[in-house]
Amino acid sequence: MDASAANSDSVIAGDPTTSLGDGDIMLRLRRATAMAHARVEACVGLDNPDISQARYRDVMIAFYRLHLVLEPRLDALFGEFEDPLLDWPGRHKLGSLIQDLHALGVTPDTLTALPAAAVPAMDDVAAGFGALYVTEGATLGGQLIARYLGARADLAGAYSYFTPYGDQVGRRWRDLRMVLRRWVGTDEARAEAVVTAALATFLAFEAALH
Ligand code: HEM
Repeated sequence: MDASAANSDSVIAGDPTTSLGDGDIMLRLRRATAMAHARVEACVGLDNPDISQARYRDVMIAFYRLHLVLEPRLDALFGEFEDPLLDWPGRHKLGSLIQDLHALGVTPDTLTALPAAAVPAMDDVAAGFGALYVTEGATLGGQLIARYLGARADLAGAYSYFTPYGDQVGRRWRDLRMVLRRWVGTDEARAEAVVTAALATFLAFEAALH
């Protein structure tokens, strides 16, 4: 599935919530990461309705190990972020992952023993936004994934990570887009740094999912 072709939005001049044309940060992110998205999509294999339970558990463990690193870093960067629309605490994913892994029979002791994934340093807001773009974007494809997995009795209760916001996925994605566009504005250095961090985050996901 080509995420680069999906999710298009209109151009309304002067409105920071919608696309601002070719230089728009959301468009740049989508274009720059389209190949990386396709690679991650291919290596998770979650579009296969017959994915084995063991492989599915490995995939969820990889997500857990990634969020184990990302979540505290994002807490530090966005805990008191100026724009309340971001609602970072409402975007936490570790709780859902722990719940899903529990449903898959992974014990708390096993979880505690898991090493965190290797994720590049993230010490400023631009880098945080790059990572957030990737982790929040996963909730878009997540809707499709949850639909496939819903037919699998052996995975019942084990995919809340992909549907963390219920019917609010679209709204939450629009909110993130608005916050990101407002924060980047016309600052080229910020835009570059966000795109670089998003690519690095996708690479970390790809490495952890192999
Ligand atoms: C089999 C797995 C996946 C499928 C089938 C899939 C599919 C999709 C689809 C259809 C969209 C567009 C949704 C829309 O426009 O409403 C999308 C967007 C996105 N996905 Fe995935 N996805 C998958 C896995 C992932 C994962 C694991 C990540 C992150 C690590 C991810 C990150 C993103 C991002 C960042 C976007 C937003 C693209 C944009 O800027 O519009 N996806 N995905």
